[in-house]
Amino acid sequence: MSNIEIKICADADAISREAATRFMDAARDATARNGKFSVALSGGSTPRKLFEKLALPEAQSRVDWNAVHLFWSDERAVPPDDKDSNFHTAHESLITHIPIPEANIHRIAGEQAQTSDADAEQAAAEYESEIRRVLQTPHDDMPRFDLILLGMGADGHTASLFPGTTALDETARGVVTVWVEKMNTRRVTFTFPLLNHAAHVMFLIGGADKSHTLREVLQPENGAATYPSQRVKPTNGKLTWLIDEAAASELNRDALSPIK
Ligand code: 6PG
Repeated sequence: MSNIEIKICADADAISREAATRFMDAARDATARNGKFSVALSGGSTPRKLFEKLALPEAQSRVDWNAVHLFWSDERAVPPDDKDSNFHTAHESLITHIPIPEANIHRIAGEQAQTSDADAEQAAAEYESEIRRVLQTPHDDMPRFDLILLGMGADGHTASLFPGTTALDETARGVVTVWVEKMNTRRVTFTFPLLNHAAHVMFLIGGADKSHTLREVLQPENGAATYPSQRVKPTNGKLTWLIDEAAASELNRDALSPIK
């Protein structure tokens, strides 16, 4: 695929500024084109600074929140008011500060993944139905998000697509539940078919703890795709990597083309 951008930013704050600009541009363009902007937020700690920037007054004037539909690319098996909930992170740092209609907030029922596999499967299926309803996806197609935000763990996972888990092999569904043995927990996650159907996927990756894996993800010695994050390749969309200097510390900069 040709539409890849790799941008090395000074630090986590610079990542969030770059991401906020791209988020607002994508929202403007999608809203002008389709009357709405469908975006899936990433989990973990990295996006918090982005959410805080989008909550600032200057962002308010640049985003028509009435047209924005917020989703999440994965969720933990916790209730929405739990500090570990990806919804909770966005709710505290963004949602409570913006004039977005309640009906435009589409959270994953992570609490259902706590009780049983069947309940978790139901939560995943219901979430995919909600995505299809809001994005008005034809029955035989995969939903196409305007923008999906992702992070990456030091093990190369993204969303809740962890190495060695069954979710990596999903080819038909857009949202599944998955047991993550090493964390002894269930998750609900987007799958590669859904991720790779997006118009734009944007990774936000910061911290020295990611540097070795990021080198292997972006510059694999033998070209092998051994990490889940390497399998995110939108078939007809943009792929943006926003990484900070600490995470980029092992990259061969001369071999990255183009660094912008
Ligand atoms: C999750 C995330 C996960 C996250 C990475 C990076 O639910 O944990 O979706 O994929 O993006 O683990 O997390 P940090 O930003 O905290 O490093």
